This record gives sequence, structure tokens and C-alpha cells, in this order.
Amino acid sequence: MNVFDVYPLFDITPVRAQGAYVWDEKGDRYLDLYGGHAVISIGHSHPHYVKRIARQLYDIGFYSNSVQMPMQQELAEKLCELSGYHDYSLFLCNSGAEANENALKLASFHTGRSKVIAFKGAFHGRTSAAVAATDDEKIQAPINKTDNFIFLPLNDIAAFENALQEHGSELAAVIVEGIQGVGGVQLPEPGFLQALARGCDKTGALLILDEVQSGHGRSGKFFAHQHTDLKPHLITMAKGMGNGFPVAGVLINPQIEAKHGMLGTTFGGNYLACAAALAVLEVMQEEKLMENAHNIGQRLMHELRHLPGVKEVRGEGLMIGVELDKPCAAIRKQLLEEHQIFTGSSSNKNTLRLLPPLCIGMREVDAFLTAFEAVLYQTEPQAI
Ligand SMILES: Cc1ncc(COP(=O)(O)O)c(C=O)c1O
Repeated sequence: MNVFDVYPLFDITPVRAQGAYVWDEKGDRYLDLYGGHAVISIGHSHPHYVKRIARQLYDIGFYSNSVQMPMQQELAEKLCELSGYHDYSLFLCNSGAEANENALKLASFHTGRSKVIAFKGAFHGRTSAAVAATDDEKIQAPINKTDNFIFLPLNDIAAFENALQEHGSELAAVIVEGIQGVGGVQLPEPGFLQALARGCDKTGALLILDEVQSGHGRSGKFFAHQHTDLKPHLITMAKGMGNGFPVAGVLINPQIEAKHGMLGTTFGGNYLACAAALAVLEVMQEEKLMENAHNIGQRLMHELRHLPGVKEVRGEGLMIGVELDKPCAAIRKQLLEEHQIFTGSSSNKNTLRLLPPLCIGMREVDAFLTAFEAVLYQTEPQAI
């Protein structure tokens, strides 16, 4: 049997990883400025994380969600301590798409409505409602097509207000990424997010902040939307939450009442997932990784703006989009093959995405900048 072919693959076989580095089976070392797609938050194979999960596995790895699991409460409390969302509750699941699927479903249950506003360039996952909220028809199968989802341009308050006039009374939710990732690191403006919150309050719709990629300290704050004064009704999180262990969650505003049967999961919030998620938060706190993401991100973005062929640098903390004056595919390939550096792409072919582990230091950043500059100088003549 073969593995179903879902992605184009690099010809690299990682077998070991530590901090911001990955080694392949030949012993070659790679600098990871991609973080396995924004997943590696505290660094690969962090000793505290490894110990906490391993210790848990010796005690108990799994039982169903039909019994008491105090670790889930411990995780909820730790999340509330780091994020500041004290009165919210936590629903645990396994992936980003699932978190968004559950958030959209909760909004629909709560409002009794079915229309959703999403934004151009959005990516919310590949399950049914999540993919319907994603602005990419190529990944929507006929079964996912629905006219319940309305796509508006990001940061266009007038378009949002017009849509509210037309659909306000049918609206269950507005879903927006804290920072658009797949869309090429596009930042929602603070005034725009606040207009969304006001519009939701006015119509009774729920505001869902998708922090799957931009959450867990990546932006330098716990959630990217916390750069703005705003409290969404639902916040979804995944990637950095488990540093590679599949765990995701939805933070739920207290005005949304839980009823048995609304949501459920077999694997969500299992002992190992809780151990991984707790270890991530403990390391984030102990090693001040949010501050590191902010400081290193500022310096990296500043340096990037001076490189040849760089048109724009967008981002917050360690979620950075570098828009070049040419497609970035060849540059990423060269960085990987000649300099052993992983970087990310986006749906905008000129935008290179940097999503390093939050523990990265200036030594790694300088090594990347030297390599990137060399590659950009080399490729510049062909761009003209
Ligand atoms: C903002 C955002 N939401 C949702 C998802 C889906 O997450 P998952 O692949 O864990 O289902 C992603 C994945 O890239 C994402 O970037």
C-alpha cells in the first residue's frame, strides 16, 4: 500500500530535531524557520515537554471523555493565566479545522442562524464548515458548497457594514484570522476588528477569532487579536498549542451556555494532549517566549526591510511575511538546498513566510539573514 499523495514533498527525511534545528538521516542539519508550519512553538524536543509526555504515558495515556480528568481543568486554568481570558471556558479537540468547525457550530446553535461572514484570503481548515469559510474553491468539494458563507475583503469596513444591512438578521458568525497566514501574513487592522466586534454585538452574531496559526505567543502576545482592544465570543487555537502533539481548543465566552449533545469528541483533551499542552504553556512562561518572539521578530523584520528585492515585510512577533519583487519558490528551494534553511510559502506566490520556533535566537536569525541576502543578490539579475 502507498501513502495517499496529498502534498508535493521536499526530498528530505528528518529523523531528529532539537530547538530550532532538524537533522536528516544523512546527519545534515537544517535551520527551521518554518516551524513545521507554525506548529513548533517552544522548540523541537524540548526536554521538559519530552519528560512531561513520557511521564504521563507511564501513568495513563487514554481514557474516554466519560470520566473525570482534572488535567483538563488544570490546562484551562493555565491557559486562562497566560491568555487573560479568565471567565471563558475551554473545549478541547484535535486540530485547527476541528476547532473552527466546532466554533462555527456553536455560533449556529447559539444564534439559531446559519449565515457566516468570512474574508478574502482566509484559510480555516479542510472540514465541511471550515473549508466553506476558506477562500479557496480548489479545496472545496461539491459536498462542501453552500451559500451560507459570504466573503468580504479584509479591512473593508464599508463592505462589512453593507453586508450587515443585507444579512444581519440571518448572521450566526463572523470568522477572521488573528493574522491571515496562508493568505500571506495579512494583518487585520485594529479599527477593522473593532468594527467586526461592534457589528456582531449589534446583530447578535458571534465573533470567532481563528488563532490557530497566530496564537500561542507567535505574535508576541498570547493571541494576535490582543494587539487590539477586543474580546471575541469564540477563539480557536491549535498549531503551537501542542508543539507537534495534535491538540486544539475553543475558548468560549460565558454568555454561550453549554448543553449536552452540542459538542463532543473521542480523542480531544486526552491525558497526553493535556500533558503536551501544559508543558508548552509552562515552557512559554518559564522561558519568556512571548517576549522573545516580540524582540527577535522586531529585529528580524527591521533587517529584512533592508534586503534587495524585498518590497514589504508584514507581521507581528515571529509570524512574518516577506513580500519579494518576484516569486519566492526558487529562493526557498535555494535556501533549503544550498543553505539548509526551511522557510514557508503562502497563497501569494511572491510572499515567503517565516514561522520559526519562538525560542529562536539572534545567532540563528543572523545565519538566515546572511544566507537570504546571498540568495537574493544571486537571483536579483534574473528578476529584471
Ligand atoms: C488559520 C488557520 N486555521 C485553521 C487551520 C487548519 O488547521 P489544521 O490543519 O490543524 O486542521 C490552519 C492550518 O494551516 C490555519 O492556518
